[in-house]
Amino acid sequence: MNYKQELAEILFEVLGHEMNVKELEMLIEKPKSQVHGDLAFPCFTLAKVKRKSPTVIAQEVSEKIESPTIEKVEVVGAYINFFLNKRMVSEAIIAEIMEQKEHYGAHNLGDNRNVTIDLSSPNIAKPFSMGHLRSTVIGNALAFIVEKCGYKPIRINHIGDWGTQFGKLITAYKLWGDAEKVRQNPIKELLTLYVKFHEEAESDPALVEQGRSWFKSLEDGDEEAIALWEWFRDESLQEFSRIYELMNVQFDSFAGEAFYNDKMDRVVELLEDKQLLVESDQAQVVELLEEELPPCLIKKSDGATLYATRDLAAALYRKENYDFDLSLYVVGNEQSLHFKQLIAVLEKMGCQWAKNMIHIPFGMMLKDGKKMSTRKGKVVLLEEVLNESIEMAKNNIEEKNPNLTNKDAVAKQVGVGAVMFHDLKNFRMNDIEFSLEEMLRFEGETGPYVQYTYARGCSILRKATWQTGSDLKISSPSWEKEWKVVILLSEFPNAVKRSFEQFDPSQIAKYIVDLAQAFNKYYAEVKILEENAEQQARLALVYSVTVVLKEGLRLLGIEAPEEM
Ligand code: ARG
Repeated sequence: MNYKQELAEILFEVLGHEMNVKELEMLIEKPKSQVHGDLAFPCFTLAKVKRKSPTVIAQEVSEKIESPTIEKVEVVGAYINFFLNKRMVSEAIIAEIMEQKEHYGAHNLGDNRNVTIDLSSPNIAKPFSMGHLRSTVIGNALAFIVEKCGYKPIRINHIGDWGTQFGKLITAYKLWGDAEKVRQNPIKELLTLYVKFHEEAESDPALVEQGRSWFKSLEDGDEEAIALWEWFRDESLQEFSRIYELMNVQFDSFAGEAFYNDKMDRVVELLEDKQLLVESDQAQVVELLEEELPPCLIKKSDGATLYATRDLAAALYRKENYDFDLSLYVVGNEQSLHFKQLIAVLEKMGCQWAKNMIHIPFGMMLKDGKKMSTRKGKVVLLEEVLNESIEMAKNNIEEKNPNLTNKDAVAKQVGVGAVMFHDLKNFRMNDIEFSLEEMLRFEGETGPYVQYTYARGCSILRKATWQTGSDLKISSPSWEKEWKVVILLSEFPNAVKRSFEQFDPSQIAKYIVDLAQAFNKYYAEVKILEENAEQQARLALVYSVTVVLKEGLRLLGIEAPEEM
């Protein structure tokens, strides 16, 4: 039940259809303090339509409101404040959640049409960076969110497994590499080689030329080059898969950059057909003058293709194979220009659907205020971070709940969940300061706090010896103390929809923190298990809270242990 919408419909009737329901709904506010009611309607806009003073209108309209869901109406200046009927609303919401369970909050906006999500997409032979962690976590959450809104998500890991850097890496390996070392510690060793290449290249420009030529051999299918590349790729993917397993992230496709090698000629032909390719400095580019963007480089002077060429081929392939409604690219903010160019080129090619490609940027992960980078060897290895977090979570459990069964599984859910939640609770464009202590705190806006609240709810339900799913009498005379929790429960569907519309999982993260806080306050004030006439109603509320917290966490890709 959406009470904002319901009020908008009431106002629509009272106002004799003078403004439409959507407009009215947009105007309805939630008062800062519940003293001023549950919903408020400011009459300024209406005053313009009706050419009367807003205070007069507020008075007039308020007198005409009559609805069982609204208990009381108060006029304060130009505002009409509405007090909902607590009993009716509470019992309706809780009944709805008990019936729909984890489906509560779902929408059907997409009729099961496809949304491709380009996420994670690390570069092989390099450590999995914080940027890739952010892309993985945000993209994974968006996949669950679009699914909750009635679309079919297709998670694509556009692995960075092609490009000039592999020419450099092969050069470095041929000069200084040691097969045994690579086998023992692939990513670390390959990174060392890559860093050494860049250091040496500063004083030896011939190296750069050699790197370029090895990449050319790779593109021409040279056997030795391909074999080395495949080896680097396999080793890297194995390392990445350990991280995905830890985070419980799955993909529908691993078609990365190399996958498009045999699909790029077609892109070039299409561009030629449309007479979009021009020569500039011996390279082939698409000019984007009207769009006020720099030209998009398609082919280098030696014929080598580029990142953008592969992304053009990928976009065409995805449209043809998935016929997406939306195509999301969860990639750091520093690639904004690239995606603007990509979309502009496709539009020039006449691809109407390019407007449904959306770059979803995000800010940086900072450590002590500075970017966490991988280039210079100053690496924070993500797997180490995750394992450290799990270790700390385990210590917490040993301290607080040493008798817990399956400690290891719970420590993993809490440790990994903490890292993911820390990322998702901020609006994605904000830079985030990385701090394990902060992430793992049991108080404040953290994953463990929400998980802990969920576990608390489960524990109450266990003590009540109530069979989940069995009928509860959810009637209670007052619903006064429960009201804040109930109102929040009613807002879950809206939070889901907002997070989809803004491609912003933090809407859900913030929402579940609010719900957890309201519930914990309720828990501190009320004896939930006390055996009296309202006990069942209170248990039904607790159950509803557990359903929504668990589902909220699930939408963020985070698990919810029942005990911790
Ligand atoms: N591998 C790239 C990088 O690490 C990200 C790829 C994003 N996806 C895409 N289709 N371009 O910077």
